[in-house]
Amino acid sequence: GRVAVVMGGNSAEREVSLDSGRNVLEALKARGIDAHAIDGIPALLDALRAGHFARVFNILHGQHGGGEDGVLQGALESLNIPYTGSGVLGSALSMDKVRAKQVWQAIGLPTPRYVALRRGGDVHAAAAELGLPVIVKPACEGSSVGITRVFEASDLAAAVALAERYPGDLIVEQLIEGDELTVSILGDRVLPSIRIVPKGAYYDYHAKYVAEDTQYICPGLDDAEAEAELRALARAAFDALACGGWGRVDVMRDRQGRNWLLEVNTAPGMTTHSLVPKAAATVGIPFDELCQRVLETSFD
Ligand code: DAL
Ligand code: MG
Repeated sequence: GRVAVVMGGNSAEREVSLDSGRNVLEALKARGIDAHAIDGIPALLDALRAGHFARVFNILHGQHGGGEDGVLQGALESLNIPYTGSGVLGSALSMDKVRAKQVWQAIGLPTPRYVALRRGGDVHAAAAELGLPVIVKPACEGSSVGITRVFEASDLAAAVALAERYPGDLIVEQLIEGDELTVSILGDRVLPSIRIVPKGAYYDYHAKYVAEDTQYICPGLDDAEAEAELRALARAAFDALACGGWGRVDVMRDRQGRNWLLEVNTAPGMTTHSLVPKAAATVGIPFDELCQRVLETSFD
C-alpha cells in the first residue's frame, strides 16, 4: 500500500527533518515504493483517517509535535497503522535524556553523572555537585540545539538561559572529554561505529549539518575487541529503553578508553551529512536500500 513519509512538524529540528524526509522520499520512490510526503502530525492523522495510507515512515525529529517522543506513536497504535522505528515507550524514554539515564543507571550501564534541573532550578548547586566542566542541555531536544559546554561558573546562567528557550526541563551533565562516537542500529544488526572528528572543538549544529570538513571515521575504533564492546554496549542501551526498528546510540569515549552513553535517537537524521547512512554505506548498504530496510522494520 501507499506509504506516508512524515517529516517537518514544528519542533526545533523541523529543517533537519525536512532535509531527512526529502532524501527518504526520493530513495523510496527510486525503489519503486508508492511514497508521499506529509508535513507534520495533524496532516498525517487526517490523511490516515481518510484511508490514504497503509503505513508510515516516520522521519520527524524532536519533541512536542516533533513525532519522536511517543505521542505520534501512540496515535498510530490506536489507528492500527504500522510505522517505522520505536514504539511509544522507547520513543518517550529516548526523547527524555534524564529518564533514559535513569534506566541505564538502574541496570549498570555507564552514563555520565548528571543533575536533572527543573526550569528555574539552581544550576550553581548542580554544577557544584558535579564539578566543572559540565554540559547544559534541554532534556528533550536533538541536533545539539540549546547545548552549552561550561568551563567557568560565570557562564552557567547564560547556558541555562539558552537551554530554557526550548520546552521542558534541563539536564546538567558532567562533560566527558575524549572521542565522540555513534553506533547505528538497523533491525537485528548493529552497524560499525563512527568516530566523529569535527574541525572545530565540538560536533555542534554547524558541524553536524553545514560544515564540509567534519571527519567521519568508520569503524570508529581500530581495536576490534574495543569496537565489538562498543557495539554491544549500544545494543544493550537501545534494548534497555525498549527501542526497536532502527536508531542511533551516541557515546563519548574518554581518554582512558571508557565508554559513556549519552542518548538514543529513535528517528535519526537522514540528511546527506547524517551518520546512519554513512555507517550503512560502510557495510555496503547504499542509501536507497537503507531507506527500504528501515521501512521494512515497520512490518515486524
Ligand atoms: N536528532 C538528529 C536528527 C539526529 O540524531 O540525527
Ligand atoms: Mg539526539
